[in-house]
Amino acid sequence: MFSKTFVATLAVVPFVAQSVAAADCARSYTIQAGDICDSISQKNNVSTYQLAVVNYGKIDQTCSNLNPGDSLCLGYPGEDCTTTYTVQKDDDCSAVMSARGLNTTIFSANNPQIDSSCSNMYIGQVLCMAETVQVPPAPSGVSFYGAQVPATATPVQALAAAPTPTPDDEDDENLPFCDEL
Ligand SMILES: *[C@@H]1O[C@H](CO)[C@@H](O)[C@H](O)[C@H]1NC(C)=O
Ligand SMILES: *[C@@H]1O[C@H](CO)[C@@H](O)[C@H](O)[C@H]1NC(C)=O
Repeated sequence: MFSKTFVATLAVVPFVAQSVAAADCARSYTIQAGDICDSISQKNNVSTYQLAVVNYGKIDQTCSNLNPGDSLCLGYPGEDCTTTYTVQKDDDCSAVMSARGLNTTIFSANNPQIDSSCSNMYIGQVLCMAETVQVPPAPSGVSFYGAQVPATATPVQALAAAPTPTPDDEDDENLPFCDEL
């Protein structure tokens, strides 16, 4: 009896230690030449926000310090959103949400870097479209508001508060023009 218990205990200890170490990262990626943060996100189905949070302190705020050959963690076990969508031209938050049947609460929880008027969504940004909260929380005191936006990011038109546009709405005559000096 004693020796059986003793053996079982010995076997458990290294197993626990190993699984804690392995739990640090669910997926990883080796940086390749020419990568930018959002191309890494797009290739791996990892949201822009999640990549920034998981690599906080490793990737800088403008994502300008990627070194080919370095390894990045893409997600933590249990906090790894793999249901993603890459923002296209003319998207807005309400259209993106309704295409997946998501409400603002869950969309915002999974994409906390998007502001309430959806003005900082940009083409190529990768969103988490999961129906439950799957992304890791931001480190305490850290805001990822627009963090790690590539220099070439093109904002999409912000139409979050607008009703679904009809084709006839493409009327530019109402745009305000600057007065000529
Ligand atoms: C990313 O998601 C798409 C659509 O679900 C899938 O076809 C593709 O295999 C995924 N890629 C990776 C690297 O997981
Ligand atoms: C939003 O969607 C989530 C996930 O489907 C659901 O749990 C939640 O109750 C919804 N919230 C509202 C306010 O509808």
